[in-house]
Amino acid sequence: MSQVVQSRRLRAVDIAKRKAEGAKIIALTAYHAHTAGILDAHCDFILVGDSLGMVMHGMESTLPVTLEMMILQAQAVIRGTSRALVVVDMPFGSYEAGREQAFMSAARILKETGAGAVKLEGGARFAETVAFLTQRGVPVMGHIGLTPQSVNTMGGFKVQGRGPDGERLLLEDARAISEAGAFAIVLEGIVEPVARAIAGAPQVTAATIGIGASPFCDGQILVLEDMLGLSETVPKFVRQFGSLRAHIEEAVRTYAEEVRAGRFPAEDHTYAPR
Ligand code: KIV
Repeated sequence: MSQVVQSRRLRAVDIAKRKAEGAKIIALTAYHAHTAGILDAHCDFILVGDSLGMVMHGMESTLPVTLEMMILQAQAVIRGTSRALVVVDMPFGSYEAGREQAFMSAARILKETGAGAVKLEGGARFAETVAFLTQRGVPVMGHIGLTPQSVNTMGGFKVQGRGPDGERLLLEDARAISEAGAFAIVLEGIVEPVARAIAGAPQVTAATIGIGASPFCDGQILVLEDMLGLSETVPKFVRQFGSLRAHIEEAVRTYAEEVRAGRFPAEDHTYAPR
């Protein structure tokens, strides 16, 4: 007799439902099994962001991140979690050449990791790709505004939405990918009134997830290491909810002192012959 295994993990449709119910959507990034496990009970979705290139590997941008790196870390996050939806970033170069390339990359991510959705950066110009993926069973999260993969064409990590056409263009981006079927859109580094206008626009049915955007977004996301106080420098929009760097420094300093002084390991930390 066949048996249906019911997963309790949230899906993209559940994130869309949160918006419909007016409940705030909670999200953070994670790249490891242990940290993802801590977030699992508190987040609706966990993003395996390509920020891992900068945060974990010390890269200057997210551009060198590969599909293989994303898959490896997404597998770790899936192993550490059982409840939250896991969304995986499509890295630079894995989707821009065309909708078929995007589908092949997204299919690898879903098949090899068990994640429930992918995220890609870009607005109206990727609407056709978003539609192609969603029509073929790949839930897609969009990402507009400050899109780090475009750092070279944007001329740096610059706040978006300023200037006469700022609101119109970003609203058009959000509307296009929402209508193409994206279930959510990250609004990153967008001036507050513009982000608020996008979040409140009736044409934008996808859930809006803010990062350096507006409290009026349907949800919020931060890079975990930034909000924990582990990153050396953080952007203006980050609140440090913890001070992990200071705690780690203190623990490592104490460890070094104890080893030098011969106080560690103590008897408790060694094995008796029998
Ligand atoms: O890569 C990432 O971590 C992201 C978030 C900042 C939204 O895209």
